[in-house]
Amino acid sequence: MNSYKIFTLVGGISSQSLNKKFYQSIVELGPDGFEFETFDISKLPFYSQDLENDPPDIVSEFKEKIRESDGILFITPEYNRSFPGVLKNAIDWGSRPYGMSLWDKKVGAVIGASPGNIGTFGAQHHLRQVLAYLNMHVLAQPEVYFNSSAAKDETTKQILTKYFKAFHELLELISGHDHSQAMNYKSQGLEDSPLAH
Ligand code: FNR
Repeated sequence: MNSYKIFTLVGGISSQSLNKKFYQSIVELGPDGFEFETFDISKLPFYSQDLENDPPDIVSEFKEKIRESDGILFITPEYNRSFPGVLKNAIDWGSRPYGMSLWDKKVGAVIGASPGNIGTFGAQHHLRQVLAYLNMHVLAQPEVYFNSSAAKDETTKQILTKYFKAFHELLELISGHDHSQAMNYKSQGLEDSPLAH
């Protein structure tokens, strides 16, 4: 099985963040065919056009992680029915300078946890809208909305295993390791979609 490097952006930055714990439980679950890495996005300065052509080292480091990854996993909390500003800030950094977005054609997946009953539904769907604009290939199904933090019980493990199997299939399809499927995809002219700007 091919293994994919997944750069994970976690939108929770507090020391006790549910979503940071959720990330840890995904790493511990260790779905087949994935290597996970994350980054403390709270260290990024606020995006400013004044900085984008000569960004601070931390931004360059962040951008290099996006560049060298095979796919991106977004783990988002829900703030006021959307995703947190700190995550939007990280996404904005990766999208600039104009015409040089690192998100373009990247394979991605969105997931999240909150203590509330809607389990980040609002956050995930706002985030998907942004990622669609950025021309990312985002896993459509299964959608997963967690209102708990850990992948400890059997049902949660099964849901996550299914989720990562689908993410792996999407990576195979778009990254071209599964050549028959990739050719089929390309023959539909989908590899030349315009830059999202
Ligand atoms: C929240 N929370 C929240 N939860 C939810 O389900 N829907 C929401 O719209 C909101 N809105 C919201 C706004 C703000 C400003 C805060 C601080 C919190 C609760 C939130 O899901 C909870 O604090 C999570 O624990 C946040 O995720 P992390 O930071 O623990 O990963």
